[in-house]
Amino acid sequence: MKFTIAIDGPAAAGKGTLSKAVANHFGFAHLDTGLLYRAVGAAVLAGQDPHEAARNLDPTTMNTTALRTPEVAQAASKVAADAKVRAILLDFQRAFATRAGGAVLDGRDIGTVICPDAHVKLFVTASPEVRAHRRFLELTSKGMDVSLETVLADVKARDARDRDRATAPLVAADDAILIDTSDMDIETAVQNAIDVINQKRGTI
Ligand code: CDP
Repeated sequence: MKFTIAIDGPAAAGKGTLSKAVANHFGFAHLDTGLLYRAVGAAVLAGQDPHEAARNLDPTTMNTTALRTPEVAQAASKVAADAKVRAILLDFQRAFATRAGGAVLDGRDIGTVICPDAHVKLFVTASPEVRAHRRFLELTSKGMDVSLETVLADVKARDARDRDRATAPLVAADDAILIDTSDMDIETAVQNAIDVINQKRGTI
């Protein structure tokens, strides 16, 4: 059985938590596509060529903790504007999306470019302040020394860059279902997503 769920949205909207919970609930595999761009961004910060880094990426050996910093996030959104980097990473994501057993992919362009035929498309968002506050709590709980102001600036700068780029900009697909989590806790957001997916599954 192939079933693809695309979850897109702006920086720190809670896509990761939501995607993991949804994948867990349905027994599907999960791919955080942001990590691919973060890994290429980190390689560029270390002096590598972005295209070379994208070609040599091994998604099974990514150091997820080191990739979570705001510096790497900024570098990721810069390399993500490079059409060639995006093209190199496309096949891996598409193959993941159509694997047997179902897949959940989260990112910016999953419903629009990577999986335009996804069975379910969700666009998860929240106000910049709410997103920055959540990300601030997440990073500081991991022992990272960041301020709320820096995190808010990072979120806003990435949103602007991701929305304004020419290739695969951050935008909700026409057929995506919007989930605004500004006034919602994560349990409610997960339940909303599960309800939407169950409805779609019932009609397929
Ligand atoms: O977790 P957060 O929402 O902060 O970011 P992420 O999903 O890890 O993505 C990091 C950066 O990678 C984003 O700001 C985008 O520039 C880029 N990205 C992208 O362009 N396309 C994707 N499918 C996923 C991430």
